[in-house]
Amino acid sequence: MQKKLLVVISIIVIAAIVTILYFYVFKEKGAIEKIKEKGYIVVGTSADFPPFEMVDEKGEIVGLDIDIAKKIAEKLGVKLVIRDIKFEGLIPALLSGDVDLVIAGMTITEERAKAVDFSIPYFEADQAVIVLKDRTDINSVEDLAGKKIGVQEGTTGDFWVTDNLVKKGKVKEEDVKRYGKFTVALLELKKGGIDAVVMDKPAAEMYVKLDNSLKVAVVIKTGEKYGIAVKKGNKDLLDLINKVLEELIKSGEMEKLIKKWFG
Ligand code: ARG
Repeated sequence: MQKKLLVVISIIVIAAIVTILYFYVFKEKGAIEKIKEKGYIVVGTSADFPPFEMVDEKGEIVGLDIDIAKKIAEKLGVKLVIRDIKFEGLIPALLSGDVDLVIAGMTITEERAKAVDFSIPYFEADQAVIVLKDRTDINSVEDLAGKKIGVQEGTTGDFWVTDNLVKKGKVKEEDVKRYGKFTVALLELKKGGIDAVVMDKPAAEMYVKLDNSLKVAVVIKTGEKYGIAVKKGNKDLLDLINKVLEELIKSGEMEKLIKKWFG
């Protein structure tokens, strides 16, 4: 009888040890641990969105988002590697593990939140319509009816045009020109291939500031909030990102960065 009890207890103890060992050895490494092992964090962005991310005269990618990314890398104690991808490719790059996080003036949307996890919001924005400066016939959303409109593929500007102009029969689907990069959309606008470009107001205003052949003709109130995206389930990394954002906001550093980039 006693012997039997001893065997049962031994089996339980061994099973417990094996289970603990199993979890200890095979435990999934957290995102942060993997990044630290690599020694660098790969950040995906679409560098056509001043002043959040853009290519400067030296060919370097700079901007408000990049400064935030630097703070995140600093907090992790690793190097920062920036990967410039067209906007539409950013979430796929995150899902495939090509990038560790995405910071690209990306609006937090319900649809995107099904695929990725978002940080707390760090910026608010509306949409705007850019046209050539001498254009006088586009002054409201209604004036976009029947026009050729450029957007960046997969952006909220693209979705706004699709939902509010195409689906309502005001603009033909084939008259919506979807570009990988805003820079290409604006070149097309200047060549006369399209009548207007719909993009986020802060970037639109910055482009207009840099190029006096353009103007913002209409503002479309959408009240979007930008967030940083990580692969679903990378909770440790998301927590760290939120901490960095909270610290930047609380300390007033974020305001300073916004002033630095918006002037
Ligand atoms: N906020 C818009 C969106 O999330 C546009 C972002 C475009 N960003 C960029 N880096 N090109 O769809």
